[in-house]
Amino acid sequence: MRDEGLLSGVLRPDEAAFEAGLRPRRMDEFVGQVDLKERLAILIEAAAGRGEPVDHLLFSGPPGLGKTTMAAIVAGEMGAQFRATAGPALERAGDLAAILSNLERGDVMFIDEIHRLPRAVEEVLYSAMEDFQLDVVVGRGPAARSIRLDLPGFTLIGATTRVGRVSAPLRDRFGYVARMDYYPAHELEAVVGRSAGILEIEVDSGGRSEIATRSRGTPRVANRLLRRVRDFAAVRAEGRVDGATARRALEVFEVDRAGLDGVDRAILEAVVVKFGGGPVGLSTLAIAVGEEPETVEDAYEPFLLQQGLLQRTPRGRIATALAYRHLGIEPPPPDSQGTLL
Ligand SMILES: Nc1ncnc2c1ncn2[C@@H]1O[C@H](COP(=O)(O)OP(=O)(O)OP(=O)(O)O)[C@@H](O)[C@H]1O
Ligand SMILES: [Mg+2]
Repeated sequence: MRDEGLLSGVLRPDEAAFEAGLRPRRMDEFVGQVDLKERLAILIEAAAGRGEPVDHLLFSGPPGLGKTTMAAIVAGEMGAQFRATAGPALERAGDLAAILSNLERGDVMFIDEIHRLPRAVEEVLYSAMEDFQLDVVVGRGPAARSIRLDLPGFTLIGATTRVGRVSAPLRDRFGYVARMDYYPAHELEAVVGRSAGILEIEVDSGGRSEIATRSRGTPRVANRLLRRVRDFAAVRAEGRVDGATARRALEVFEVDRAGLDGVDRAILEAVVVKFGGGPVGLSTLAIAVGEEPETVEDAYEPFLLQQGLLQRTPRGRIATALAYRHLGIEPPPPDSQGTLL
C-alpha cells in the first residue's frame, strides 16, 4: 500500500473544510508574497481613489500557493462581493452570460482554472472584460440576432496553474499578471505557526521547521502535514509537537528526509526499475504509477526535477544517478547507459 500523494500541492477532496478554517481573510494574515501584496495594495488603493473597480488580475502558479485565497482577500479589501466559478464549469457562453448579467457594480468575479475555459466562452469574456459589454445571441436560425448588454464595472480575477495555456488575447486583457512562487522555509514556518494557533496545537520552533522543510514550498502541504503531525502527537506525544515528534510522525506517514512521499518514490522506482532508468514518456509513466499525466506533470515532476532526481529529455523522463542512490539502488556505470547522468 502506498500513501496517496501526501505532498502533492493539489487539494484532496477530504480537506476542503479543513482548509476553509485556515484560510487567511485579510492581507495582513496572508504570509509572505511581500512584493505581490504591496503591488495589490497599490492597485486597490488607486482604484478606490478613482472610484473604479480594480483592474482585472491573473494569478498563476503551482497548486496550493494561495491563488484562490488571495483573490478572496482582494475582494474583501475592495469591500466587494466574491463570485467564484471555474473554467470547466462554464460549458456554454450562456453559462457565463448568466453570471455576468447578475454582477453588481464593483463585484469580483473569480474564474479558477481559467486556462480550461472553452473557446466560445472565452470570446464572450473579451468584450465583457474590455468594455463591460455582453454580446448575447437570442433566437435561432435565420431569426437569430446579437444583442449587446451593458454590464456594471467589475473585476475579473483569473487563476491558473498553467499560464502557458492561457491564450494571448485573454492574457492581454488582464491589467496585472502575477506569478506566485514557492515559499521559502521561514515563510512556511510562519504558515505552520499561524495554523497551529488556529487549531490550538502546541508546536515549538523545531517542530515548525521539520514540517516546513518537507512542505515543498507549498502552504497547502504545510497545513496538511501539520494535520498529520497533530494526529500523531495526540496519540503518541500528549499533543505537543517538537522537532523529534514531527520527524517521527512524518516518518510514519512515509514522508522521507528528502521531502518525498509515496507517489514520488513510486515515480522514481517506475523509471529506474520498470523502465531501466528511462527515457520513458509521461503518459506511460503516469499509467505505471496510477496517476493522471497532468497530475504527474503539475504536482510531482517539478519537485523531482528541481531536486535533480529526474530529468526531462525530448525522448522522455530519465532517472539521474541521484535517484538511484535515493532508492538505495546502485546506479549503472556511466558508460553502460548513454542517458544516465
Ligand atoms: N500565504 C499564505 N498564508 C497562509 N496560508 C496560506 C497562504 N497561501 C495559502 N495558504 C493556505 O493554503 C491553502 C491553499 O490555498 P489556496 O486554495 O488559495 O491555493 P490555490 O493556489 O488556489 O490552489 P489551487 O491551484 O489548488 O486552486 C489555503 O487554505 C490557505 O489556508
Ligand atoms: Mg485555488
